[in-house]
Amino acid sequence: MNIDLTSLVFSKLTDDSDVSMFTCSDSEDLEDFLRNDAKTRQHEKISTTYLVHSGTELVGFFSLSMGCIVSDHVKKMLPAVEEPPQKYPALLLARMATRDGMRGQGVGYEMLKHVFALAFILTDQIGCRFVKVDAKKDPRTIRFYETYGGFVKITEGDDTVQMVVDINKIVDE
Ligand SMILES: CC(C)(COP(=O)(O)OP(=O)(O)OC[C@H]1O[C@@H](n2cnc3c(N)ncnc32)[C@H](O)[C@@H]1OP(=O)(O)O)[C@@H](O)C(=O)NCCC(=O)NCCS
Repeated sequence: MNIDLTSLVFSKLTDDSDVSMFTCSDSEDLEDFLRNDAKTRQHEKISTTYLVHSGTELVGFFSLSMGCIVSDHVKKMLPAVEEPPQKYPALLLARMATRDGMRGQGVGYEMLKHVFALAFILTDQIGCRFVKVDAKKDPRTIRFYETYGGFVKITEGDDTVQMVVDINKIVDE
């Protein structure tokens, strides 16, 4: 299916949202999360999920939570300050996926732009310096975050790479 990016509609997941058709064969975890856990997590106020539709088709989703970053991991990215905090507040992009058959058409980039727009609204009200993602340790995923979001790697785990982007840098660009 060809997607017209100008007609994408972003909405918050609700109890009535039909997410049963969302498939993500690259990651059963992401598919299972959206289909089975996202609504409960939202009620528990652990994550808030946003859906992206093209017409009636659900083409992508992402989930956001509060997060933080250990200062040592980002100190090279920031000007030296006399008493840096031990941790920096961050918006955590906890999950994101484009539906099978619809990747590589720009939906992911549109989702990232939406995340950044939400981050700008947040930072006006609440301290929040970074957007953070625990990216799947897959070269294509990592390159996607680097190229389309300006994220940089800060730490590596067994299966994921912690990546961040400084919200001030996004504003400046
Ligand atoms: C990562 C992901 C959300 C990007 O969404 P998207 O709609 O494919 O992204 P876009 O079309 O805006 O950008 C395409 C870029 O993403 C890269 N990409 C990363 N994973 C990809 C995938 N599985 N399929 C196609 N493109 C992918 C492409 O290389 C492409 O880069 P290019 O333009 O330089 O060729 C999506 O590919 C996806 O859902 N992947 C599987 C789940 C996943 O890994 N989620 C992230 C968990 S941290």
